[in-house]
Order: sequence, then C-alpha cells, then structure tokens
Amino acid sequence: MDIKISPSMLASDYANLKDELKKCENGKADLIHLDVMDGHFVPNISIGAPVIAAMKKVCSIPFDVHLMISDPYFYADEFIKAGADIITFHTECNCDIEKTIDKIIAGGCRAALAVKPKTPIDTVFPYLNKLSMVLVMTVEPGFGGQSFMEEVMPKIAKLRKKCPEMDIQVDGGINTETVKIAGAAGANVFVAGSAVFKSDNPAQTIQTLKQNARS
Ligand code: DX5
Ligand code: ZN
Repeated sequence: MDIKISPSMLASDYANLKDELKKCENGKADLIHLDVMDGHFVPNISIGAPVIAAMKKVCSIPFDVHLMISDPYFYADEFIKAGADIITFHTECNCDIEKTIDKIIAGGCRAALAVKPKTPIDTVFPYLNKLSMVLVMTVEPGFGGQSFMEEVMPKIAKLRKKCPEMDIQVDGGINTETVKIAGAAGANVFVAGSAVFKSDNPAQTIQTLKQNARS
C-alpha cells in the first residue's frame, strides 16, 4: 500500500496560508487535508468553500476535504467547485449517504466516508464499492491537538482485513510515534495537523511521518 501524508491546515497559520501550503509542497505531502466544520455537526466552525477555492489557486497538491457538517448532500457542489479532489463526509450525518456519494462522484470527485471513534466500522460496509477511501477518526471530531485514541485500532484492522487495497485514513492525534501504531493496524493515509505545523521544520516532519508509518 502507498503511504500518504495529509497535513491538516486546521493547525496552520490562517494568516499565511500560501506560505503554509509551500511548506507542505517542500515536504512532498501527498494530500492537503481541509477541515470544514459547521458549528452544528461539531461544536466548532472553521473554513468553507471560498477559502478552499483561494488556496487551490496557489497549491498543486490534491485537496482532501473533510466535511464535519450535518448536510453534506446540500453543500457537496460548493466543495466540488472549490477544487476538492476527495470529499469525505460522516456516516453520522443527516442525509442520504448513497445519494451523497453519487453526487460527489458525478461531480468528478472521489468520495470517502468517515466514522467517529464510537461508530462501528460496519456502517461503511454497504458503500465500499463506491468509495475511494475510508476515514477512521482517532479523536472525536471538532478540534485539533487532541490525544490519539489507540482503542480505535481494531476497527482499522477489521476494515483492512476486508479491504486489502482500500485507502484507510486516520485523523486525530497523529504524530511521529502514533503514526507507527496506526500504520501497524493497517492505515495507510495519515492526517497530521499539530504534529506538522507546530514543529520547527514542517517539511522534515512530513518526511519523518512517512518513514515512521512504514516502520
Ligand atoms: C479534527 C480534525 C483533524 C484535526 C487533526 O476534528 O478532523 O483533521 O486537524 O488535528 P491534530 O493532528 O492536531 O490532532
Ligand atoms: Zn480532519
């Protein structure tokens, strides 16, 4: 499996997004993770489609958009137009999952489903044939800088056994140590916010995350 690192811009300096994206390019990040929060699905509000569209103009790395919003079906088109390459939404959302996946794919994007730590992984099983990736959250969604939940690892192992080729992403509390635990469980796509942007050398940290995920 290809190992991919997806720095989360939630932990970056929003006043200097162009420079922060450059650091990701210098570190050869595989994806850029963009956290969209609506203050309803999660108790926090972050960025929306206009900011993502502006970032897209100054970055050549594919955009991995993580929608933590109640109605991804309604908003999917906005994020497709903004330049998302992958759109991830939650099985716990308030809309028709199949229709939302179909809308994302019809718009030319890859679709992914996310599960919160307490949601059984089986909830994604009916949709696997249409999905490009599954995101297994390793913190409760809503905030950066939380601690990695190792108790989620059996869900990753179960999914990896069922889908040997699927991209399995982890998000929350990933650093140069926890990346090894998630990688051993079967994840191959790693989101890291604080670990990358709060480090002295974000480009180097992206490379170290990649090496350690393989170990
Ligand atoms: C949390 C977000 C994450 C967040 C991760 O709800 O989905 O992407 O940025 O932040 P860290 O890597 O700091 O735990
Ligand atoms: Zn995220």
